[in-house]
Amino acid sequence: MFELKDRDGLARIGILETAHGKIETPTLLPVFNPNQVTIHPKDMKEKFGTQAIITNSYIIKKYDDLREVALEKGLHELVGFDGPIMTDSGTFQSHMYGEVKLKPLEIIEFQKAIGSDIGTVLDIFSEPEDKREKVETDLKITIERTKLSADNKGNMMLAGPIQGGRFPDLREYAAQEMSKIDCDVFPIGGVVPMMEKQMYFTLMDAVLSAKKYLNPSIPVHLFGCGHPMMFSLAVLAGCDMVDSAAYAKFARDGRMMFSDGTRFLKDIRELPCHCPICTSHTADELRQSPNQEKLLAMHNLYVSFAEMRIVKQAIHEGRIWELAESRARAHPALLDGMKCFRKHADFLEKTEPLSRDLAYLYTSPESYYRPTVSRLKKRIMERYEPPASKYQILFPDATKPYYRSYWEQISKIKDKNNVAYWVDSLFCPVPIELDEMYPISQSVISEHLEPGIQQEKLKVLKEFMDAGIITPEIKHWQGKETIDSIPQGEPDLFDMNLARVKATADIQFGRGAGRALLDGKVELVLSPKTNRIRNVKVDGKHILSMRAGDGIFTLKLAGGQILHKTFPGPKMRVTVHPDSAEFNRKGKSVFAAFVIDADTEIIPGDEVLVVNEADELCAIGRAIMTRDEMLAFKTGIAVKVREGCFELKLKAGS
Ligand code: GUN
Ligand code: ZN
Repeated sequence: MFELKDRDGLARIGILETAHGKIETPTLLPVFNPNQVTIHPKDMKEKFGTQAIITNSYIIKKYDDLREVALEKGLHELVGFDGPIMTDSGTFQSHMYGEVKLKPLEIIEFQKAIGSDIGTVLDIFSEPEDKREKVETDLKITIERTKLSADNKGNMMLAGPIQGGRFPDLREYAAQEMSKIDCDVFPIGGVVPMMEKQMYFTLMDAVLSAKKYLNPSIPVHLFGCGHPMMFSLAVLAGCDMVDSAAYAKFARDGRMMFSDGTRFLKDIRELPCHCPICTSHTADELRQSPNQEKLLAMHNLYVSFAEMRIVKQAIHEGRIWELAESRARAHPALLDGMKCFRKHADFLEKTEPLSRDLAYLYTSPESYYRPTVSRLKKRIMERYEPPASKYQILFPDATKPYYRSYWEQISKIKDKNNVAYWVDSLFCPVPIELDEMYPISQSVISEHLEPGIQQEKLKVLKEFMDAGIITPEIKHWQGKETIDSIPQGEPDLFDMNLARVKATADIQFGRGAGRALLDGKVELVLSPKTNRIRNVKVDGKHILSMRAGDGIFTLKLAGGQILHKTFPGPKMRVTVHPDSAEFNRKGKSVFAAFVIDADTEIIPGDEVLVVNEADELCAIGRAIMTRDEMLAFKTGIAVKVREGCFELKLKAGS
């Protein structure tokens, strides 16, 4: 069973339970070759914090001495590791070295017999060069073998590899078909040659195409992608596990791995590393050491596990995009891998959180193509209701929040006429009243944008005009000249705070939410310190609170009741089982196992309405998962409930 603990989009921290203990993902499984021991598994656990390892059942089966010990005493005893062990099936060996053909069930039975925690199907390896017909035929065999293996897996967890070669649609097909089979891990296969040939775009395309259709509650493994340089990209694309024989293979050739690439020890004058090996040796000492291979393997593992910790910390911080983009700068081929994420922006938007604790950092032109940007653009275009103003002014980007930067200018125009104010932000043109909402204010952006990005911005401005929310007559701010060009007319009734509440509600909950929520006698409670909106009360009822950090609303029960009445289901709804509803009414969170259905538009961080099957409101809270995840996960919190309806009844009655 796999449980989601924390996430940043597709990148996630999870707990995978196995017969030999839990694995906290994302993690690296070092490859252990019993015929070529560089670092003993016991040391791996103690020195490097290795949680699980992977070894090859085919190799164990092939050698009499290994096979006999494994069958008699078990795999864990043979290897000398008491944590979770995953076994591969020999696919790679038979593919690379054309070794004796195995029968698919024979190797499953063997993996079960030796006590593997996670056994692997004998899949057919497709090369990136393989023709479509061949890949299709091989894929069908892999799917059939996976069905057969799943029917016979017994108590062993089963890894069902996703093949499909270089064809994204075949990866999608493979993911759809394999998700129907009872697997416990989905490794992405056939990718080692892509990595070796530095076809990172093709590689990321394979992963993302598969992720789009894979059951989200099953962890994804990336076969053979053990270079720390690409961990952040792999995890950003939704991989939960990777394995590596590279740490040992590279050491054998005198190569050292770093998060920015590989270096030959012979070329190193200064060791750019803080690991215990590099801080206790000079490069010369390493070169002269009779133990060089082991020392380099240790360095490689230290660096790999350190990089995985960096990746995990980035997930907790909400900085996985920044990390991946900066790592991708290490090599143009890796940068191509990063560019593949653009192609999948629509899919990535589904898991893209509503907001993050830390600011959006513009680290490179790729930052412009993050899903947080495309979503903001779409939401403003689709959900924002522009005020009925005669004139529109577009201010250039400025220090945030924009309203403060432009307050002086606005006050000079306010008395003259009714004007709508827009700001030409990096993301898209934004109505000034949205300036405190994530990511508009919570962003740090390079002042000297690349010409390509400036052109993209012009294209978006045109899209806004075509959509009719910005008029072609919009005045690009020219200072006094612009003020003078606005004729004297009706004075402006623009109330910044009210406009902010309405626009934020529309963007966050959907067009029309603002009007419905503010229908009554509105009272805004401002922070005495910052003068910013804290609470929104309507007809005496507290309906919304605005978070100071990201300018996003949290819903109060009274606000939830209004939206529940305003929007017909399934909008904003998470429908729960009657057994759960009673707990949710009392303020307890919703577990994924009890979700019957949910709005497909829900994204992590969204405010949602928890309802029963009769669409009666039970609670309001914040979604942790998307609909697909709520329906797929068997454990973990789907909605963190803030207020249950039971509490309201109690309060009203007391
Ligand atoms: N090791 C590296 N790539 C693969 C693959 O595609 N399938 C299997 N079973 N093992 C691998
Ligand atoms: Zn080192």
